[in-house]
Amino acid sequence: MNSAVAGRMAHGAITLGDHEFKMFRALIFEKSGISLHEGKKELLRTRLSSRLRARDLSSFKDYYDFIKNDKTDVELMGLLDAISTNLTSFFREINHFHFLEKKIIPQILARGSRTNDKALRCWSAGCSSGEEPYTIIFSLLENAEIKNSWDIKALATDISAEMLEKATSAVYTEEKIKTVPKGIIRKYFVKGTKDKEGLYRVRQEISRLVQFKRFNLMTENFPFKRKFDFIFCRNVMIYFDKPTQETLTSKYYNALAKGGYLMIGHSESLTGLEHQFKYVLPTIYQKSA
Ligand SMILES: C[S@@+](CC[C@H](N)C(=O)[O-])C[C@H]1O[C@@H](n2cnc3c(N)ncnc32)[C@H](O)[C@@H]1O
Repeated sequence: MNSAVAGRMAHGAITLGDHEFKMFRALIFEKSGISLHEGKKELLRTRLSSRLRARDLSSFKDYYDFIKNDKTDVELMGLLDAISTNLTSFFREINHFHFLEKKIIPQILARGSRTNDKALRCWSAGCSSGEEPYTIIFSLLENAEIKNSWDIKALATDISAEMLEKATSAVYTEEKIKTVPKGIIRKYFVKGTKDKEGLYRVRQEISRLVQFKRFNLMTENFPFKRKFDFIFCRNVMIYFDKPTQETLTSKYYNALAKGGYLMIGHSESLTGLEHQFKYVLPTIYQKSA
């Protein structure tokens, strides 16, 4: 029996041995910080099967060797795209946007009056297909003073090239925008017609305020010159182990301006991690002023 046949189970599915699982787990952890426990073996097998088919490979061992020998890292990106969970939505975990409106924006405005510096910088780290950074921009623009006299720039980063492509296109289906209030749709989206019927594009004057970039949060030194007023890193750290979360939290602390805020996902917490942040509310933390 050749290895291709041996590698296949009765229903044509390719088996992922324990040793191969460990190799992939180590590679994924090294490259993205994503920590896969034993229970994720079947998930990994299903998600990677399509990559094997795309590369016309018949075993996970061949796929692993393929990635290791690929100097371009294109397939490594394919692997990370396949295993990352990209679930997101507009106005997800809405209390963060209320907090932005009621607490963060007034604080930023006060800083503007004090220093005359009217630049607002924020970061959506792990932005997936863009719904989060666009929601941030909509929320900021709902404040007339920010809209009329501030220079707003949002950085939005992700490890997934596929997600970033979607985010940059700024085009969403009707289904995707069902969590967006009607007034916001009217103001900030263009409705598609003819062959674009049923699609909505974020207006260019809005999408240009967001700079999408591929960036791996495992990067040792964050290269950002200007400090951020706030950082959203929601539903990302949940995939990392505790030491990785701790390192990342400390890098966020350094990347924030004094008094700046870090928002994490609703099922996440910094409890149990060593960090310098002041706890404000569940999932909301502040750098001391
Ligand atoms: C579940 S989505 C969260 C999207 C959004 N923040 C939200 O809460 O709706 C997690 C995102 O984190 C990204 N991600 C995972 N590991 C990453 C890493 N090491 N560097 C950058 N992005 C990463 C994934 O590609 C994915 O798009």
